[in-house]
Amino acid sequence: MSTLKRSLGTCYYPEHWPREIWEDDAARMVAAGLTWVRIGEFAWSRLEPRAGDYQFEWLDDAIAVLGNAGLKVVLGTPTATPPRWVLDKHPDMLAVDAQGNQRGFGSRRHYCFSHSGFRDEAAQIVGKLAKRYGNNPHVAAWQTDNEYSCHDTTLSYSDASREAFQGWLRARYPGQGNNGDIDALNTAWGNVFWAMDYDDFGQIGLPNLTVTEPNPAHALAFRQFSSDQVVAFNRMQVDIIRDHSDMPITHNYMGRTTDFDHFAVGADLDFASWDSYPLGFLEDRVGASPEQQKKYARQGDPDFQAFHHDLYRAVGHGRWWVIEQQPGPVNWAPYNPAPLPGMVRLWTWEAFAHGAEAVCYFRWRQAPFAQEQLHAGLLRPDSADAPALAEARQVADEIADAPDVAPGQAPVALIFDYRADFAWTVQPHGEGLSYFGLTFDFYRALRSLGLSVDILPAETTDFSGYKLVLAPGLMEMSSGLKNALAASDAACVLGPRSGARGPDMLIPVPLPPAISGLDVTVSFVESLRPDSPISLQNGGNFIGYREHIEGNAEVIEQDENGAPALMREGNLHYLAGWPDHAAARRIFGALCTQAGLKIHDLPSGVRCRDTGSERFWFNYDTTSHKIGGVTLPPISVLRETL
Ligand code: GAL
Repeated sequence: MSTLKRSLGTCYYPEHWPREIWEDDAARMVAAGLTWVRIGEFAWSRLEPRAGDYQFEWLDDAIAVLGNAGLKVVLGTPTATPPRWVLDKHPDMLAVDAQGNQRGFGSRRHYCFSHSGFRDEAAQIVGKLAKRYGNNPHVAAWQTDNEYSCHDTTLSYSDASREAFQGWLRARYPGQGNNGDIDALNTAWGNVFWAMDYDDFGQIGLPNLTVTEPNPAHALAFRQFSSDQVVAFNRMQVDIIRDHSDMPITHNYMGRTTDFDHFAVGADLDFASWDSYPLGFLEDRVGASPEQQKKYARQGDPDFQAFHHDLYRAVGHGRWWVIEQQPGPVNWAPYNPAPLPGMVRLWTWEAFAHGAEAVCYFRWRQAPFAQEQLHAGLLRPDSADAPALAEARQVADEIADAPDVAPGQAPVALIFDYRADFAWTVQPHGEGLSYFGLTFDFYRALRSLGLSVDILPAETTDFSGYKLVLAPGLMEMSSGLKNALAASDAACVLGPRSGARGPDMLIPVPLPPAISGLDVTVSFVESLRPDSPISLQNGGNFIGYREHIEGNAEVIEQDENGAPALMREGNLHYLAGWPDHAAARRIFGALCTQAGLKIHDLPSGVRCRDTGSERFWFNYDTTSHKIGGVTLPPISVLRETL
């Protein structure tokens, strides 16, 4: 694989600023060492202030100013912010929440993916933009919409959504003509239970406002449908852009958004990008302990950014950016502290160490008006430098001198599957249990051992080169994946909940995990109170979730009662519970050592990541650390040639 260049950029809103300062802004961006400028993604009301009244001259001008200064433009489609007239024209285009309340105008993302009138308006404006700028020499990439799913906007319980869901179900359970086979659906979902049988697809509602929980098969189908609606909306935009432009297309994903399948969206795009707000995410997305949150309040969680870097590298087929990087305090988290000096530089280098092609800071200048008044930029509202500008400039100087990145395969792989997250969300079986939480715990354990990790989709068929593959929590597991894991040379760890459900949320028989070559059967499962973990004889605990397993595979670990906790046959292992950090480190560490991998015992703030040619060390702590022969000063980045 060829090497990668690294570059920096920023997010800019020319429509927020007087025309007189655009040239100066552009010149200052270039002087700061920035290459990219992303614009346009919320500008619909200025591009089409009234239906059909297109006003592109200002955008022509802005692109020319930025491009002539030497910047490359990423042009966003403005569909995340339909102007008021679009809503007046289509009053029922708003999404409806699970309580049945229609969401309102006055912020953003106020649309339902299933509303065909809105979809047509979106297609129209995207088409106009693509046609006008498809061959513009300064437009070097496109972004579709903005942060699908942000503000809880994937699932909509609207009439449009219900009708589209019924159509989706007809296609999923096909019958004569276009009618679908309602008996097939009743059987697949087990609707005989509680007399939930339907006579017709038109009777099927959305799984909200039921007296007690809806049928999990119904709830899962609705999540899969809602994800497909996001994929279809994005694909519509991509197809339109590709008719007019050869430039690469991306979408900016968020941290810990799991309610649509990013791999499916990513399949239509040229590269992935994501919006990294390490301090914004810390309080309510990471799931870390209060002590950890306090310790890293000004640094961000040391594993959360890296997890998403690795995830989105996979979603982008190896190509990905951080298209929005937090540069200072944000406005939207429960608490909004400023980063410690040096953190903006550290976050940027960490993205590059994980293979990012570009890191763009959000935003160029802090806006003195509207919702994000308290959100820092690279410039203050009075245009003076904000603290992050100097750090961005420092990174720009450093990357100019640094060698290009040589991508390399990590020794360890972790499989991540959004459909598994849907199934866990529908049926967590215990309070606070989530698929994201489980996989992130596994990831954190691997990182604390000093390992670089590749995150892979569940469709992966070739695991060559990996020494250890972790496939936790994949509620539905294809036979293709089971076979690929069994055939690989890597030590593979499945469980808990691997292969626990079929496509319609039914418990399969033979009972899970049902893998030939691994004589293990999960006989029953239980979830655990937070204050009642089950200890393992060799150290650490099962927390939250545990399974009772039987079979002829070798018992490697037992719990406090002597029941099997980890069983093995050949290269396949089954882990019968959710291990705490100590147990996960011990079990994965032993497997790595057996596989000949060198492991470390890293403090919580120290992490490393290998590219094909370099090792990067990151110290998120305010104290220095010595690891082997390496001394890491507080808040630091260190590069070693491998
Ligand atoms: C992102 C979003 C941006 C901006 C930013 C503020 O989620 O894409 O438009 O709102 O957050 O931190």
